[in-house]
Amino acid sequence: MTNGLVIRRAGVGDARNIVEAHHAAIREKAAAHYPAEVINAWAPEEISDARVAKLEDHIAAEEFLTLVAELGGEIIGFGQVNASKNVLGAVYVRKNPVGGVGERILTELIAHAKAQGCRFLAMDSSTNAEAFYRRNGFRTTGYGKHHISSAKIDMDCVHMMLKME
Ligand SMILES: CC(C)(COP(=O)(O)OP(=O)(O)OC[C@H]1O[C@@H](n2cnc3c(N)ncnc32)[C@H](O)[C@@H]1OP(=O)(O)O)[C@@H](O)C(=O)NCCC(=O)NCCS
Repeated sequence: MTNGLVIRRAGVGDARNIVEAHHAAIREKAAAHYPAEVINAWAPEEISDARVAKLEDHIAAEEFLTLVAELGGEIIGFGQVNASKNVLGAVYVRKNPVGGVGERILTELIAHAKAQGCRFLAMDSSTNAEAFYRRNGFRTTGYGKHHISSAKIDMDCVHMMLKME
């Protein structure tokens, strides 16, 4: 615990608050990097029950580790890794006065993947976060598109890889 910040494993009951933090992080920090239609698809104003239910399934699934960052009892960020598939499912953190929250979540997810025997992690980063993952050991392997199926729209993304040997 630092400055009232708690990083803990998510529970199924956190799902709606995680989606709220997810969307807020996008709107606060990524909106300037993508067209409005992408931001609206990636972080819709209205949170659907289907989105929450999908996240609940992921939180409950054994292959995923979902961590949340809580400040003053409020979820301000989260991250997810699927070690069985060597996939980092990204990190999202709202604006906050603490700093270093994204890096703390990422470090714990990488340590978990390593403990599960992963030798590498792959991920698709948003363009705005490429430098964040690079400074944490990831390298860029290419640039492409990520499909947002709920809105049938593509967004630019960065294919990245972390070697852990
Ligand atoms: C990318 C993100 C997760 C980083 O989390 P964060 O809590 O803001 O980052 P931290 O405070 O841990 O940053 C640690 C260091 O990385 C730097 N950093 C953070 N985000 C960065 C970025 N996008 N580009 C370059 N450097 C970045 C910080 O300045 C800090 O450096 P310092 O210690 O020298 O001051 C967060 O900004 C975010 O949620 N962004 C919007 C959503 C998004 O695109 N997420 C990624 C989806 S793949």
